[in-house]
Amino acid sequence: MAYVMSDPDKIDRKCLIEMVAVDKSYATKRETIHVLKEANLKVLSGEVLGIVGASGVGKSTLLHVLGGLDQPANGKVIFKGHDIYRQGNSFLEKFRNVHVGFVFQFFNLLPDFTALENAMFPALIQNKQKSVARERAEYLLCEVGMQDRMSHKPGELSGGESQRVALARGLMNQPDLLLADEPTGNLDTHASDQLIELIRKLNKEFNQTFVLVTHSQRVAGQLDRVLELVCGKLNPIKQNLVI
Ligand SMILES: Nc1ncnc2c1ncn2[C@@H]1O[C@H](COP(=O)(O)OP(=O)(O)OP(=O)(O)O)[C@@H](O)[C@H]1O
Ligand SMILES: [Mg+2]
Repeated sequence: MAYVMSDPDKIDRKCLIEMVAVDKSYATKRETIHVLKEANLKVLSGEVLGIVGASGVGKSTLLHVLGGLDQPANGKVIFKGHDIYRQGNSFLEKFRNVHVGFVFQFFNLLPDFTALENAMFPALIQNKQKSVARERAEYLLCEVGMQDRMSHKPGELSGGESQRVALARGLMNQPDLLLADEPTGNLDTHASDQLIELIRKLNKEFNQTFVLVTHSQRVAGQLDRVLELVCGKLNPIKQNLVI
């Protein structure tokens, strides 16, 4: 496949969120692990961006920093012109609840609630009408092929099914940015292709921006732009955005 290589700075699309010189370390009793080292990243509005990299390199950490869940030691995360970690708690809370959807690597579904209730949660937190939340959750669960499992609790779902419920939940509030950590990690090839097709459909129809962490070469091959996280920094490995 031939890709057009170009510089994101020169692409005429708006930057939705940007990381500038971000450092993130974890200090344990024995050592300090430097995960992100002056890492820079621009996510363009309306793109489907892939992040790849070896296990343990820091992909989940990167998504957590980008999604307002984990403050970096140094550097900025700028969303629509605001440095998210320097605006105070209420800004950060709103950013996380309204502007970002998160699909966690290990799903984080609430065990005592059904798939439908789990998907509805972000809307209920926003005080949306229950009937409106229910209608959208049912629509999204149908879109991810979970129409026959809506009344199941997470303990009664397979890994792939849980992942699809988590995607529906992440999309519930129509976030500006959907961050998904290995969203196809538990799916077979057919289900994975279907999920990527859905992501592309949502991207095309609603200009939904996605950042997807993936280990799958096949998934990376289906995305607009792919960056690799190596030694704490992001390097472009593929770009076929229309410019
Ligand atoms: N809370 C923590 N305390 C200490 N070290 C941590 C913590 N969270 C992550 N790490 C370490 O930071 C590094 C990056 O972890 P991270 O989970 O971001 O990697 P990853 O690229 O998502 O890996 P995988 O592909 O296996 O999911 C790893 O070496 C991990 O052991
Ligand atoms: Mg991870």
